[in-house]
Amino acid sequence: MYTTIVILAFLAAFLIAWRFASRRESLPCPVWLRWLVEIDNPFTRISRAAVIIEHLDVHPGMAVLDVGCGPGRLTLPLAKRVGSNGRIVAVDIQAGMLNAAKVKAEKAGLANIQYVQAGAGEGKLDKNCFDRAILVTVLGEIPDRESALKEIFGALKPGGVLSITEIVFDPHYQSQRTVRRLAIQSGFIEKDHFGNVAAFTLNFVKPAAG
Ligand SMILES: C[S@@+](CC[C@H](N)C(=O)[O-])C[C@H]1O[C@@H](n2cnc3c(N)ncnc32)[C@H](O)[C@@H]1O
Repeated sequence: MYTTIVILAFLAAFLIAWRFASRRESLPCPVWLRWLVEIDNPFTRISRAAVIIEHLDVHPGMAVLDVGCGPGRLTLPLAKRVGSNGRIVAVDIQAGMLNAAKVKAEKAGLANIQYVQAGAGEGKLDKNCFDRAILVTVLGEIPDRESALKEIFGALKPGGVLSITEIVFDPHYQSQRTVRRLAIQSGFIEKDHFGNVAAFTLNFVKPAAG
């Protein structure tokens, strides 16, 4: 019993330290833990790939930005949904995550995905060209969240929608209050809200020009 408490306390301290250290420099989810990221969470329906995509209202032909794509849990279903006339730009700071997504996409015969190794907020994204953008359990891993959201705002077309999903089991969990504050100060307007305090998706729209 005592040993279990010590292990749990050590784990909790490690996760808290990791979370706060991520505010100073990039400490992304390690590539060797990608199997964990690939589980389409059985505990929270809201964070399942199919549900997020349904809530985001993605259609064939759209251009979608998947920021912090990891091993492609959402990238592949998004690529299927937009079809051969659409495109996905999958961005991740780690080459190992992008490679994992690429291998799976090639096996699935999906050729409409472009892979970009970059940190969100580094200014590598083209402007005004995406219909949709997603950030699923990524925001808390980004050291400069303000610059990341401003870059995504610039990359979306006017009227484009950004979907942010957070789940409380993630050591980098961001509250709804924080997500709203950061998104609204970047120029977004809240559109929809799904889920609860433990697992939620907030969708924001980039206002049409003028
Ligand atoms: C917890 S995983 C989530 C993966 C995927 N979105 C999903 O839900 O299955 C977080 C991902 O964000 C990536 N990441 C962390 N910091 C980043 C940054 N500054 N810019 C872009 N990607 C980042 C990590 O490499 C990792 O692949």
